[in-house]
This record gives sequence, C-alpha cells and structure tokens, in this order.
Amino acid sequence: MKSTLLLLLFALAAVDFSFGNPLVGLFDAACFVVKNNDCPNKNVTFWLYSNATRDAPVQLNPLDLNPWDFQPPRPLKILLHGYTGHRDFAPNNHIRPVLLDNEDVYVISIDYAPLVRYPCYVQAVQNLPLVSKCLAQLINNLVNHGIVQHDQIHIIGFSLGGQVAGQTANYVQRKLTRITGLDPAKPLFILGSDMRRLDPSDADFVDVIHTDTLGRGMLRPMGHVDFYPNFGPLQPGCMEENPDDPGSCNHERAPRFYGESINSTLGFWGRQCASWLVYLFGLCSTRAPQALMGYRVSEEVKGVYFLKTDSKPPFALGMQEEADNTKYVAKFHFHSKHNEIEDDYEPEWGETIPELESNDVEINELEKQLVYKEQEALDEPLT
Ligand SMILES: *[C@@H]1O[C@H](CO)[C@@H](O)[C@H](O)[C@H]1NC(C)=O
Ligand SMILES: *[C@@H]1O[C@H](CO)[C@@H](O)[C@H](O)[C@H]1NC(C)=O
Ligand SMILES: *[C@@H]1O[C@H](CO)[C@@H](O)[C@H](O)[C@H]1NC(C)=O
Repeated sequence: MKSTLLLLLFALAAVDFSFGNPLVGLFDAACFVVKNNDCPNKNVTFWLYSNATRDAPVQLNPLDLNPWDFQPPRPLKILLHGYTGHRDFAPNNHIRPVLLDNEDVYVISIDYAPLVRYPCYVQAVQNLPLVSKCLAQLINNLVNHGIVQHDQIHIIGFSLGGQVAGQTANYVQRKLTRITGLDPAKPLFILGSDMRRLDPSDADFVDVIHTDTLGRGMLRPMGHVDFYPNFGPLQPGCMEENPDDPGSCNHERAPRFYGESINSTLGFWGRQCASWLVYLFGLCSTRAPQALMGYRVSEEVKGVYFLKTDSKPPFALGMQEEADNTKYVAKFHFHSKHNEIEDDYEPEWGETIPELESNDVEINELEKQLVYKEQEALDEPLT
C-alpha cells in the first residue's frame, strides 16, 4: 500500500517539473551570503503604506521610528515576499491594494530583494535569518516604544517569506499573535529543526495555505490550521495561464486566493479531513465541519481543510455542498495517527529531477550545513 502511494506521489510530482533547480546558483560568483549580521541592514528595508500614502510609502528606520506615522492606531499587516521577489511582487501586489481599499489597516511591505536574487536560491535561504532578525528588531522597537500594540501585528509571508515569518519568532521579545504562511517554501526546509521552519509554536495562531505541495511549497501541515485548495499536482487554470511553468502559477495562487479572501462575498470554504493522506484515498467525510480560509479565518479552527476553487478570478466557490458518504467511509478503518509517511513525507526536488542525482552536492548535506549556520546566528544578542 505504502509503496503504491509513494509511486503515485512521484508520478504527480513529476508533472510539476518546471521549478528551478536550487543548485543552479551554488557556484555563481554573483551569489553571496551576507557576512555582516547587523541590523538594520541596507538590503532589508521597510515600507509603510496606509490608504493615504499608498503611492508614496514611508521608508521606516527601525532605530528612529516616528509614532505619528502610526496614528491613528490601526491593525498592522506585515507582508513578506519570496525568492526573486521585492516589495511590489507577490504577495504584495495581490494583497496590499485590496487591504488598503477595504480595511482600515497599516501595511508594511518588506523588501529584501538583493538577498534573494535569481539564481542564488541556496544563498537566499542562508540570508533569511538576517532578514528575520531585522524584522524582529523593527517589531520589538514598535512594540517597546508603544507605537503599535503587540496584538495588532499580523505577519503574512509568501514562499521563502513564510519561512522568514517563522524564523522571526526566534528573535521577537514577545510571542507573535498571528502568522499567515502562503505556500511556505519547501526546498532546503525539509530537514532541520522547526527553528528554521514555520510551525505552530511561532505564533498564537498560524494559518497556512498550501497550493504547490508537490513542487515549491510544503506538503506537510505547518500551522494550527492548514488549507489545501485543489489538492493535487496542478491548480485549475495554471496550465492555460503559464504553460511553461505551471508550478510557479500554482505557488502564486496562495497569495491570489488570500487577496480575494479579504473582500470575497462567497468565501473560500474548506472542509475538514483527518489529513492529506486520507484525502488522497478519497476517505474524507463529506459531512465534516467547514471553515473559511484566508483573511477571515476564525482563530478557533484547527486541523486540515480541503476545498476546490474556480480556475480564474473570482476563485472562491462558497460553502461546499452537503452530501452523505458516511457509509462508504465507514468501511475503511484508517488509522492516520500511526502513519509513518504522513507527517514528514515531502516530495523532493532531488527525487523528481534526474539531473540532480549526478550532482556532487547532496541536498541533504546542504540542509545540514544550513541548520548549523543558523544555530550559530541565533546565539548573537539582538539590539
Ligand atoms: C474587492 O476589492 C478589490 C480591490 O479593492 C476589487 O477590485 C474587487 O472588485 C472587490 N471585490 C468585491 C467582491 O467587492
Ligand atoms: C481610502 O481613501 C479614500 C479617499 O482617499 C476613501 O474614499 C476610502 O474610504 C478610504 N478607504 C479606507 C478603507 O479607509
Ligand atoms: C547588500 O547587497 C549587496 C549586493 O546587492 C552586497 O554587495 C552588499 O554587501 C550587501 N550589504 C549589506 C550591508 O549586507
């Protein structure tokens, strides 16, 4: 049974072939890991937007914050881009305008583009602790100076940004109240401790949306609640939208769904199921509770949820229909709690890209080195 399932997953993963190779930039002279771990760092900048300043954001100096920039008091949403991104790239372009149009909030878009440039994926991953440390410095200073209430801060990170959000928890003085992970990045995050990865201990409430589980994003649950829209190798509409790189379209669906969820009238309703493995076997009850995914998720909901979406905007399909499959499901006694592959299994790049097999550098070795480096970085005091 287990091997059949693995074969199936590999077959699915093979469809999503087009994501970049993380080793491409490994020996590229243009790629660098920042040696200087001091914050603020000129390669990590913070841009404050409000409805009034949406076209002329204020660049923040974490060491010299102006309380008037945050008057009147409003909730603060912090957006983090991913690999090859910048402050106007996903998730910023999908979420910031909708927030400013519809919600009375401040938005800080972080820009760390110089540290996550193509083709330097491995170095980008190594630069993340610095980004996290600098973000934590900003948050600590905003809170300590009474400029923003601690419980008003919500971090939303896409891809590598999702992992930055998780790592920021290592440096903040008070536990964060909410983190949203939008298809948190997988490559080089499979091994190692939760300190490097987004996980439920990083904030009082962590909600995660997974849209490219067999490629760039993580398959395993990472939050208090995890949503899997259109679980499978391909998000609807992505083959048409980006036939050369449907995986990149899958990945970016997470911030697009999230942006739409802010003011969607129908809403993205997921239905709870024990796990993705149970879902894969088609054994989820169609009577399980439903929960709203995205910006308006209830902080009470826990567990794993599945839903379908449309192939183009508006993507949301509303509540799921009630049907009764309890008799069918009851025939199977599926003990998901004791399944060895479920919690840790991740379809990996090395498994799906044949050319990596001949490469001298072992991905697993690299991951171990990264863990080591980041532990070192954590020992430094934070100012
Ligand atoms: C939501 O807001 C966006 C941008 O502000 C707008 O384009 C869209 O029409 C809104 N959707 C609904 C359902 O109101
Ligand atoms: C944003 O500002 C415009 C006018 O500049 C105003 O009409 C709109 O209501 C404001 N939106 C919010 C969410 O405050
Ligand atoms: C910032 O990035 C540039 C490359 O874009 C690099 O040369 C420089 O050392 C970095 N500076 C700091 C302070 O990290």
